[in-house]
Amino acid sequence: MTAHKQGDPTTLNRLYGRSKGHRLRPSQQALLDHVYPALAVPAEGPITSQTLFDDPPGRERPLHFEIGFGAGEHLAYRADLLPDHGFIGAEPFVNGMVGALQHVRDQRLGNIRLYLGDALEALARVPDGTLAMVYLLHPDPWPKARHSKRRMMNPGPLDLIAAKLRPGGVFRMATDHPVYCRWAMMQMAPRIAPGGDFEWMAKSASDFRNPPSGWPLTRYAEKALREGRELWFFQYRKVRE
Ligand SMILES: C[S@@+](CC[C@H](N)C(=O)[O-])C[C@H]1O[C@@H](n2cnc3c(N)ncnc32)[C@H](O)[C@@H]1O
Repeated sequence: MTAHKQGDPTTLNRLYGRSKGHRLRPSQQALLDHVYPALAVPAEGPITSQTLFDDPPGRERPLHFEIGFGAGEHLAYRADLLPDHGFIGAEPFVNGMVGALQHVRDQRLGNIRLYLGDALEALARVPDGTLAMVYLLHPDPWPKARHSKRRMMNPGPLDLIAAKLRPGGVFRMATDHPVYCRWAMMQMAPRIAPGGDFEWMAKSASDFRNPPSGWPLTRYAEKALREGRELWFFQYRKVRE
């Protein structure tokens, strides 16, 4: 059994960090005003392949969800790689949203929907057991112990991610922060223990020191490498409710 408290709200429904950066150029503002509305996740109701892509019943495409996509390069790469799948990206940082919109426009991606805000609010509206994959790449580390409750890798968000993945669905997480890496492994330890809801897919150390194919490095990963920091990659498969 998992040792953490089920339903612990830690980190849920709370946004930390910035949502606005440098002022948008008119062309960027135009993307937000004219392209974003057509790609935005509906403001309310369930988030499904039917409500997002109009998929008929019985022909629902697999859905992927990226939490905090930054400038959207990983989201766009994955959507381009898997054109028959649907991708939901959530990011509260407006300048990041503009980055994703630029990718969608430049790569002509028709299988991405976007949410400007707290990923956990959107994730909560996805019916349980429906996501093929969830991505959490280089989440804000909040390295000070007194901020640890702000980390995404906490029981509340992890319960939500687990609930939304379908059986066999995969949760991918990467970090370049040693404190976060240890914390994340501690959070996942009871969940990957016998009887837990996930299985850690790594078979050897190289599996978590290198990204598997189809997992491009993000802007934060590249920055960490330039600064001489290590990267860690985790894949967990959902094995039971
Ligand atoms: C360190 S950056 C990493 C960005 C990107 N994933 C990458 O690897 O380049 C963390 C991102 O998480 C976003 N973020 C923080 N809290 C969030 C939340 N509650 N929901 C969605 N995104 C969030 C931040 O705005 C920021 O873009």
